[in-house]
Amino acid sequence: MVVKINENYLKLKSSYLFVEVARREAEFQKNNPDADIIKMGIGDVTKPLAPSVIKAFQGAVDEMGNADTFRGYGPEQGYDFLAEEIIKNDFEPFGVSLDTDEVFISDGAKCDTGNIQEIFDLGNKIAVTDPVYTVYVDTNVMAGRTGEMKDDGMYEGLTYLKCNAENEFVPELPEEDVDIIYLCYPNNPTGTTLTYDQLKVFVDYAIEHKAIILFDAAYECFIREDDVPHTIYEIEGAKNVAIEFRSFSKMAGFTGTRCAYTVVPKEVAGYDSKGNEVQLNQLWNRRQTTKFNGVSYPVQVAAAAVYSDDGKKEIKEIIDYYMENAKVIKSSLEKLGLEVYGGVNSPYIWVKTPNNMDSWAFFDLLLNEANVVGTPGSGFGPSGEGYLRLTAFNTLENTKEAMDRISKLNF
Ligand code: MLT
Repeated sequence: MVVKINENYLKLKSSYLFVEVARREAEFQKNNPDADIIKMGIGDVTKPLAPSVIKAFQGAVDEMGNADTFRGYGPEQGYDFLAEEIIKNDFEPFGVSLDTDEVFISDGAKCDTGNIQEIFDLGNKIAVTDPVYTVYVDTNVMAGRTGEMKDDGMYEGLTYLKCNAENEFVPELPEEDVDIIYLCYPNNPTGTTLTYDQLKVFVDYAIEHKAIILFDAAYECFIREDDVPHTIYEIEGAKNVAIEFRSFSKMAGFTGTRCAYTVVPKEVAGYDSKGNEVQLNQLWNRRQTTKFNGVSYPVQVAAAAVYSDDGKKEIKEIIDYYMENAKVIKSSLEKLGLEVYGGVNSPYIWVKTPNNMDSWAFFDLLLNEANVVGTPGSGFGPSGEGYLRLTAFNTLENTKEAMDRISKLNF
């Protein structure tokens, strides 16, 4: 007898995209110890937690050190005090009402968007946009919902909805019937958005086909334009067909603190093999209560402070700061004559590589000649080839310095 592995893992690319980016960056730094590398690769925040958040966090840590206020296991779904703030601040202003047991607090949208596929049958047909946040694809590969990767970089059995300059990054509906569609808006990696009408097309498709939309809105806080929906539930009928993922990571600097949430309305259902309707809320609740013990109490208290009056002001300042960087990147690259997308409702700027260079070649050029790290678009899927993603999460000084260095390159 030998231990057999899950061979689906062998279908994956050898490393996660950001691991490969970090590897190349570390190798360059090792060979060039004096190089002052500016990181605009992984979308990781740089500003510290806001003062109100830290104060609440510290207060909650103190509570944990006092026998009278100490808390052990919390609810696996998260504390109601946080779910109530989430509903009041993130949904009610957009005319969406939710119950606290439709909000599942977790340690990350990456985990939730990766884990959610467990509650669905392996036979479901999955559609993703291309390019795509790779977690949606890889987790379905790991589960065995795809075949091998083909020569064109696409996995057998997966439907790819192309997004590029030609269609203004608006995916078309799948030609074949699909059961589950992953959408991320504002989009990672392209930084582009869908309008109400464009998102409605997908909601209507899901209603008509009894399909489910997995809507990742981790970048909602960066929305600036009026015609961009803040939550999919603003679209009529979406509560019957959509699960939405949100995160405190980019919104409040929680990438290292970890807090997010997933909304699973009670209306949204799937079907068993006999055709009976089953609430997805009930399945996700069952999954979370078995496999997850909740986010730590101090972290949830810190997250709730994001919604205090001071917290809101402080966080807005931080988001505005990042969006100023986005403006600087967008306008500087446009001045160089590059084709630039995103950066208006998103901290991501999606740049067409000059002279049809491939994504990794442009990545290497920026790293070697400007000491600036981006993320090669091809790492997000075949339609990302010929693009590179830059993030607005560095300091304004570094952002300007990076643009200055790039402007001196000869493309
Ligand atoms: C990214 O750079 O795409 C994000 O940081 C990834 C993530 O949030 O997991």
